[in-house]
Amino acid sequence: MNQRPIVLLGAEDDEHVDALVRELHARGESPKVIDPRRFPRELRVSMGADLADIRIGDSAGLVPRSVYVRSLYTDPAGYKTDVEQSMERDWRRTSLVLSERWNVLSALLLRWSALGVPLYNPAESAQVLTKPYQLALLQRAGLPVPNTLWTNDPDAVRRFCSEQAATIYKPVRGGAHTRRVEPRDLEPERLARLGASPVCFQELLPGRNLRVYVVDDRVACALCVESEALDFREAEPHVFAVDLAPEVERQCILATRCLGLRFTGMDLREDAQGRPMFLELNSSPMFLGFEQLANVNIGSVLCDALLRGAR
Ligand SMILES: Nc1ncnc2c1ncn2[C@@H]1O[C@H](COP(=O)(O)OP(=O)(O)O)[C@@H](O)[C@H]1O
Ligand SMILES: [Mg+2]
Repeated sequence: MNQRPIVLLGAEDDEHVDALVRELHARGESPKVIDPRRFPRELRVSMGADLADIRIGDSAGLVPRSVYVRSLYTDPAGYKTDVEQSMERDWRRTSLVLSERWNVLSALLLRWSALGVPLYNPAESAQVLTKPYQLALLQRAGLPVPNTLWTNDPDAVRRFCSEQAATIYKPVRGGAHTRRVEPRDLEPERLARLGASPVCFQELLPGRNLRVYVVDDRVACALCVESEALDFREAEPHVFAVDLAPEVERQCILATRCLGLRFTGMDLREDAQGRPMFLELNSSPMFLGFEQLANVNIGSVLCDALLRGAR
């Protein structure tokens, strides 16, 4: 029997970590939860120059069977990073601590990958996921992506918008809702605000929203997300499972592989001809809400993969 533990890297009070712990317990497994927020204050982590020389707490030579990575909690504004008070006390020191946390924990994940441990998801994929790069990789692989411009250049925005039937804008990374570009958004004073932050401009896709979960080269579930709002998160959506055309299923699996992911929830939206276009692939997608709304299983497919471990 394989005695190596399954590791879940995430906050102890995170709903997704908790759901996986419960499902794995129900299957007779005792996963080890490592909460990155406890490092470095409470959790002891040591590594030597040998790849497998890793000690976490009392476990020496810890090489798991598989790892689920919810988050490393190194983004001060990220979900559950929980550094608001220490930022207020001393932002410089707190930033340094987060950077040291990132350096040690991403090295840990990269070492596990190098030792053949399947990670959901590999640390290598983190950089690839920056959207101006991921969409370019998808397009180069022959996958359909919408006309897009990431920029802080007002002239480039005016040119781009004049070439689209309709345009939306949204943050480069995320954190705000998608909005339609209106004529007043193209006024000089408004575009001057690009000096504060670059923005993503994209052709407006008028069709259905799709959310597709892929685990290890298999579509775990495909959902249609109907909403009154342009950005489906703004209004209570109606979510239901759909069957993807074999060609679209193949594209979703190719996109996952192309970005080096093993587990993803991706957002697609159909164009005026009903062709699904890739908006983004997420490396740590939430799934509990969709499971409930559409009565589907995503966490259990992920648990199957974690239990299988290295092959
Ligand atoms: N080009 C677009 N046309 C129409 N709706 C869009 C477009 N881009 C995004 N949206 C809507 O906004 C949502 C969020 O956009 P997305 O690209 O997934 O960014 P994020 O989730 O990181 O904020 C999408 O799921 C979709 O409902
Ligand atoms: Mg999204």
